[in-house]
Amino acid sequence: MVPERQFRTPLFDALVALAEARKVSFHTPGHKSGKGISTRFRQFVGPKIFTIDLTTLDEVDCLQKPVGVIKEAQELAAEAYGADHSFFLVNGTTVGNQAMILATAKPGDQVLVARNAHKSILAGIVLSGAIPRFFLPELDPELGIAWNVTGSALSTVMELYPQAKILCLTSPNYYGVAADLSTLIAKAKAQGMLALVDEAHGPHLRFHPDLPPSALESGADICVQSTHKIVGGMTQASMLHIKGDRVDLGRLRGVLYLLQSTSPSYILMASLDLARMQMATEGRKLLGKAIELAEGARARINRIEGLYCLEAGLVERAGPYRLDVTKLTISTKALGLSGFQVSAILNAEFGVQVEMADLGNLLVIVSIGDRKDDLDRLVSALTCIATRAEKGAPPIKPLIPPIQGDRLILPPREAYFAPYEYVEVGEAAGRVSSEVVTLYPPGIPLLVPGEEVSPEVVDYLLFMTSQGARVDGVRDSEPPCLRVLRD
Ligand SMILES: Cc1ncc(COP(=O)(O)O)c(C=O)c1O
Repeated sequence: MVPERQFRTPLFDALVALAEARKVSFHTPGHKSGKGISTRFRQFVGPKIFTIDLTTLDEVDCLQKPVGVIKEAQELAAEAYGADHSFFLVNGTTVGNQAMILATAKPGDQVLVARNAHKSILAGIVLSGAIPRFFLPELDPELGIAWNVTGSALSTVMELYPQAKILCLTSPNYYGVAADLSTLIAKAKAQGMLALVDEAHGPHLRFHPDLPPSALESGADICVQSTHKIVGGMTQASMLHIKGDRVDLGRLRGVLYLLQSTSPSYILMASLDLARMQMATEGRKLLGKAIELAEGARARINRIEGLYCLEAGLVERAGPYRLDVTKLTISTKALGLSGFQVSAILNAEFGVQVEMADLGNLLVIVSIGDRKDDLDRLVSALTCIATRAEKGAPPIKPLIPPIQGDRLILPPREAYFAPYEYVEVGEAAGRVSSEVVTLYPPGIPLLVPGEEVSPEVVDYLLFMTSQGARVDGVRDSEPPCLRVLRD
């Protein structure tokens, strides 16, 4: 039974009430409820949205020090997510990940970091002065994707670094592959460690039993979720949840107070209030429909010659993982076409845009916003591409990223602020990186500040940039350059 109060949307209601009161405003934002907004903007989106683009006022509370409707909205979110405290975030999971590390790690503290971490986790490491001790996710050479981290990898790194105080995991990953969080977290907690989870791709997990268990259900102390990525939050709207009393709440509040904007968007925050209400009251039904659509499309794609869509059974046979079945990872390699190529054709010829592509795969996110027609369009476009693909074309060979585990020469913070120079990527082997270098997809950092650049990373970067991959942290010059420590 859903508690009656979960139907409430206190922040949104307060915004609407204030907008309808038509008070005269001599405060920010300068567009004054849209009266000063550009005509083109207003004509396209309509006038109403601007009337709730407000600032911190008594009626609508203050994110930095909530005492009214924001406090209530955050408490409802905590109840819905099974947390003790929830915090609204207006700079995505990026700011939540930074806060999660800064609130728990002090300079010099060792943090065990699963290497499939987003760069915002590394930003938290640089800002805090903590020392990351990486352990690697398992990789699948056939599909060229990363699964997730295992208990045995965690045990090994825990034995190597028994002083570590914090474990930081990322689950599910971009492809929807969730780690066995309860085992990993129990291991860490048994040694007195805090368990932090970047759950950017999992704000829906709690609301449907056929999805992998959420981080908090698995025992995490803190998790951060991109409400905007998967459910009804607007872009940049995320939440941070904590459970239990092992995290210093005062410090976490203080860190968010330092990092978040003093002018948070009320539209983004209202979208969090509404997204929570929607998940709490009808999440199971909506997600059930999304799961059915995704599973139907998966079955149909798997009947197309030359394509393979990742299934839960294969993921579970590969290791102690679970698949969020709303993600469709579609291997294109047998068609002799890269994921990049198929993605470009889907977009240009069929008006179908996927979440991401890599050398051998496409990633499609199916959500509560999709309809059967949308999936039909995807499947028929893929059928068409597969039918006309050159028969007998050599298959694409997926390439596994050469991620490193133990090449840290300097603490990341020290390396980040040390004198640097740019060198051509081809000349960078043996040098020490002063930048986070991440390839999208899969978004796993290839280099972090303070790490020695291996020849394998150089070869991989050169090859992937030649294939049109997006690399963050490499200077887009001709030839491309890496930022490394001055000798
Ligand atoms: C695993 C992971 N963590 C964090 C982020 C950052 O989230 P946001 O875009 O909400 O700031 C992303 C974004 O892609 C991500 O994939």
